This record gives sequence, structure tokens and C-alpha cells, in this order.
Amino acid sequence: MPLPNSTDCERDAVLSVRDLSVAFGETVVLDRVSFDVLRGEILGFVGATGGGKSVLLRTVLGLHRKTSGTIHLLGYDTDRLTDDERMGIDMRFGVLFQQGALFSSLTLLENIQVPMREYLDLPQRLMDELALLKISLVGLSPDDAGKFPSELSGGMIKRAALARALSIDPDIVFLDEPTSGLDPIAAAEFDELVAKLRETMGLTVYMVTHDLDSLFSVCDRVAVLGNKRVILEGTIEDMLHSEEPWIKAYFRGKRARQLDLAVRGMNSKASGTVNESTRLTTSRRSVRTPR
Ligand SMILES: Nc1ncnc2c1ncn2[C@@H]1O[C@H](COP(=O)(O)OP(=O)(O)OP(=O)(O)O)[C@@H](O)[C@H]1O
Ligand SMILES: [Mg+2]
Repeated sequence: MPLPNSTDCERDAVLSVRDLSVAFGETVVLDRVSFDVLRGEILGFVGATGGGKSVLLRTVLGLHRKTSGTIHLLGYDTDRLTDDERMGIDMRFGVLFQQGALFSSLTLLENIQVPMREYLDLPQRLMDELALLKISLVGLSPDDAGKFPSELSGGMIKRAALARALSIDPDIVFLDEPTSGLDPIAAAEFDELVAKLRETMGLTVYMVTHDLDSLFSVCDRVAVLGNKRVILEGTIEDMLHSEEPWIKAYFRGKRARQLDLAVRGMNSKASGTVNESTRLTTSRRSVRTPR
């Protein structure tokens, strides 16, 4: 449903947040935050630790109360939803929470089936088939289906949480720090998986991340949260050209430069061969514009 009086950009927005403020008691965490997530894009959300990225994500999902502002999700004003519309919207997004949040007493297969049980009325055999499909989609083995979260590695838990987020084929997935705690190769594989899912399933992805590699390699656009609001929303190129002090330090600071120099050094040695370590540079060249 298009937004009334919307611009072309807003018409293509799966999520549109305007002047959103959130406070816990006297403490204001978000102050008039505005941004869009466009259909089919991977938007990376960055900002200082404790800056409010998870609170923002949870507020968009209706888990925190906002003080003011509007949230249009999948074309609906979330303040004006009927119960049926709320349920319809809840079925169209998946979430990977920062803390994983798998149920420890349920197996991997059962965890993936939680959203199916909540929203769909399917026979057990079909749910088993669908859950096994998601398990293979995220690169886990059918042998893992009966394992409990405590029997999975950190990387497997991220994939399991992604499989659960994809459980009922959502239009948009919200990923909160999906690659934190993973080694660089596992993180790169996870990024590739997200990019592949976007291509094959036409997903829209909202990804909170501190991982510079993820931002450079898979994100179409980036939104930066600073001083309690979105201070810049744009492509990686826009970030690299920004003179805003935090953005400059983040994207052109010592760590970013070290990564870039390391990659350039490897490229000149490898004379054109592309491996995991070169993804930063290659992706910079191929930064996509949102569709
Ligand atoms: N339920 C809550 N009640 C009160 N304060 C909260 C609550 N949840 C978060 N906060 C506060 O809101 C602020 C933002 O927290 P948030 O978790 O959104 O940060 P973040 O940007 O996700 O940080 P990180 O990068 O470390 O994950 C913090 O000061 C935090 O203590
Ligand atoms: Mg967080």
C-alpha cells in the first residue's frame, strides 16, 4: 500500500521512519530519528556502542514504546494497525537478535518451527520438511537438526538464528550484529550467505553491524546513528567522502586504513587473484546503488 503523499523514494521504502524518539524514563536514547530502508536493499546500520541501534531496531519491531514519530513498515503506519494487519505484518519480517535468542530447550529443527507454529497451521511433516529446507539454505547439515543450541558452535548459532528468521519466508529481515564473534572467514561466509539470500529470495535486509568488511562487501547503503539521530544515510562512497568527525574516524580511521593497506599489499602480491582477504577492495569497486 503506497504511503499517502509519498515521494518516489518513499514509495519504494519497505520501512520508513520519521522523527522517531525513544526515552527510558528521563533518558532520551533516540531523538527524532529518520531513515528509509528501500525494497531489495541491504542497509547497514552503524553507530557507537550504546548509541541506540538495538533500541531502534526493537522499537521498529514494536518491542519498545516510542515517545513520538512515525514508523511505516511494509506500507502500514504501525500506529494504526488492526489486529489482523499487525499479525499480517509480523508474518512478513524475520529477526536475528543480537543475543541469538534461540530457545535452549528446543532443538534446531524445533527452534526454526517456532514462527511456523505461531503464524501458520501446517501438518508436522510439512513443518519438518520446511525447517530442513531452511537448515540447508543457511549452510547447516540435516544432521544438525536434532541438536540443541548448547551443542552448536557460535557460527552455527548465527546460521541457526538466520534460519529461524527466514522460517516463514519474510520480505524483510532484521539482523542485529550477525557477524560479531565470528572469525573473519566465518564472517565473510555469513555475508556471502546474506547476499545470496537477497538475490535468490528478493529479501530486504536491515543489518546492524560493527563489521567494516560487511559494510564494504554486502551493504548497498549505510545509515549512521550518532548523537541520538541518523546523521548520514547513503552509499559507502558517501561515507568515505563525509567530513563528519565520527564517520570520518570510522570509515577513514586507523583501522579502516590498515584494512585497506593490507588488502592493497595482498592484491599487488597476488596479482589479481581474489580470495577472502581481498573482498574489501573488490567490493568497494562494485558498490551497488539501491534498486
Ligand atoms: N530496556 C531498557 N531500559 C532502559 N535502558 C535501556 C534499555 N535497553 C537499552 N537501554 C539503554 O539504551 C542505550 C542504547 O542501547 P542499545 O542496546 O540500543 O545500544 P547499541 O547501539 O545497540 O549498542 P551495541 O553496539 O553495544 O550493541 C544504552 O544506554 C542502554 O543502556
Ligand atoms: Mg546493540
